[in-house]
Amino acid sequence: MGQVVPLPQPEPSAEDQPVLVLDCGGQYAQLIARRIREARVYSELVPHSLTAAEARARRPRALVLSGGPASVYAPGAPRVDPELFALGVPTLGICYGMQLMAQELGGTVERTGVSEFGKTDVRAEPESSLFAGLPEEQTGWMSHRDSVTAPPAGARVTAGSPAAPIAAFEDAERGLYGVQFHPEVVHTPHGQEVLKNFLYGVADAPPTWTAAAVIEEQVERIRAQVGSSRVLCALSGGVDSAVAALLVHKAVGDQLVCVFVDHGLLRKDEAVQVVETFEGHFHVPLVHVSAEERFLARLDGVDDPELKRKAVGEEFIRVFEEESKRLGEIPFLVQGTLYSDVIESGGDASVAATIKSHHNVGGLPEDMEMELVEPLRLLFKDEVRRVGEELGLPERMVWRQPFPGPGLAIRIIGEVTRDRLAILREADAILQEEIRRAGLYRELWQSFAVLPAIRSVGVQGDERTYGYPVVVRAVTSDDAMTADWARLPYDLLETISSRIVNEVPEVNRVVLDITSKPPSTIEWE
Ligand code: XMP
Repeated sequence: MGQVVPLPQPEPSAEDQPVLVLDCGGQYAQLIARRIREARVYSELVPHSLTAAEARARRPRALVLSGGPASVYAPGAPRVDPELFALGVPTLGICYGMQLMAQELGGTVERTGVSEFGKTDVRAEPESSLFAGLPEEQTGWMSHRDSVTAPPAGARVTAGSPAAPIAAFEDAERGLYGVQFHPEVVHTPHGQEVLKNFLYGVADAPPTWTAAAVIEEQVERIRAQVGSSRVLCALSGGVDSAVAALLVHKAVGDQLVCVFVDHGLLRKDEAVQVVETFEGHFHVPLVHVSAEERFLARLDGVDDPELKRKAVGEEFIRVFEEESKRLGEIPFLVQGTLYSDVIESGGDASVAATIKSHHNVGGLPEDMEMELVEPLRLLFKDEVRRVGEELGLPERMVWRQPFPGPGLAIRIIGEVTRDRLAILREADAILQEEIRRAGLYRELWQSFAVLPAIRSVGVQGDERTYGYPVVVRAVTSDDAMTADWARLPYDLLETISSRIVNEVPEVNRVVLDITSKPPSTIEWE
C-alpha cells in the first residue's frame, strides 16, 4: 500500500489573522491601524464594542485598544468586553486604552491633577519587551488628564514620565501591555519601534503584508468571486480605478472589459495616457468612448457649479449605460472602494458603495443589478499606490493628485466652451510641468490652474490686450477636509507666470490664490 502523504496546509493569509484595533473614540485609531500596516502587519479597525466571541472568530494575532477622549470614569465612556483580556491574545492599550485595561484588570486610574499634553520625557526600561533595544531616555507624545496610578495586578511598570510614573506596563504572562503616550504619532520618535516590538516580539506577527502579498491574495479572491464570468470596470484616469482594474485583469485576464468614458474634461494628454497604458502596455480590453461632443452639448449654457456637476454626472451614467448594454450581459462591476470609505460608513458594504458613487462621476446607476468586485476594500490610499507601483503602473498615474470627477468643468468659472477648455488645458499643463520640474508635485495635495470668467487689460509688445487671467491654486492637505495654500517659491511662480502669458495667447495675467480651506474650498466651483 502506498504511503499517504498529507497535502501541505496553505499558509493562512495575513488577512486571516489580523491585528484588530479597537476604536475607543480617539482621533488616532485609524492612524494606529495604518502604522501597523506600515510595519507590514495586516490590521483592521473595529468598534470598541467587539465582543470576545467576535474577536476570537477573527483569530487575531493581537488586539490594540486605541486612545480616546473620554475619562474611563465618565458616564457613557467607551468600554470593551473584559473577556477580551482572557482570550490569551497579546493586547496593547494605548493612552485611554491603557487606562481601560488598568481599570478592568485591578489597577487604578485617577485624575492626579497633573495632565500632560505634547512632547514629554519618558524614561523607559530597555529590558522590557516594548522598549527592547531602545534608548532609556526618549520622547513620548502625551495627551491625558487621568493617569494610571496602579498597574493591573501582576503587571510591572516599564516606563515613567515626570507626571505619569506609570507611563507603561507589561504582564508578559497574560500578554497585556499598556503605554500612556502615543507611539503612532510622528512626535514620538521611537513610536514605530515600540509598535514593532509589540508586533514582532510580543505578538509574533510576521511582516508579510507587502504589496506583492496583497496582489497575490486579491487575485485569488477575485478569481473565487467571479469564476468564469465577465467583469466590467469604469476607468477614470485616477489611481483607484486603475489599480482595481489591473488587479482584476491579473486575476481573470480578458474576462475583464474596461470602459473609459472620456468626457473631454480631463487635463492635457491624460486620456491618451489612459489608453496607451491600458490598451498599449497592459493589453487590457478597453472601450474608449470619446464623448467630448456630448458632454459639451450637455454643458452648453450651464454656468452654475452644481448644475455642471449634475450635467456631467448624468451624462456619464447615460454614456456608460449605453456602452455596457452594447457589451451584453455582464454580472460583475469593479468598484474602487477604499478602506477609508468602508471605515467612514461604519463598515457596511452597501453604504460604502453609495458614498463612493456620490463622490465620483464614476458613480454608476443604482438600477444596474451587478455584483460589486471591490479589490481595494482593505487598502488605504498609500497602499493602493504601492500596489499600483508593484503592478507596474506608470509613476504619473500612481502618484496623480486627486482630480474631481467633473474635471475641468468646475475649474472654468461660468460657461464651459471648447475654446475656454483649450486655454485652461494649456495653462494647466505648463503649471503641472513646472511644479513637477521643481520636485513639488508629490508634496502638494493638489496644484492646478483655474480660468475665471473675467477679462482684464494688459499690454504686450505695443499692443493693448484684453485677455483672461489664470489663477494658480496649490494646496497642502492631509485629507481635503482642511487645506493650506502652498507657499510656492517665488522663482517658480515667476516661471509659471511668464510661461503661461507667453505661451497661451488668450491669457495676459496670472494670479495666485492665497486662501486656505476653510473659509475657501480647494476647487473654485
Ligand atoms: P473642495 O473644493 O470642496 O474639494 O475643497 C475637496 C476635494 O474634493 C474634490 N472635489 C470633487 N471630487 N467630484 C469629485 O470627484 C466633485 O464634484 C468634486 N468637487 C470637489 C476636490 O478636487 C478636492 O480634492
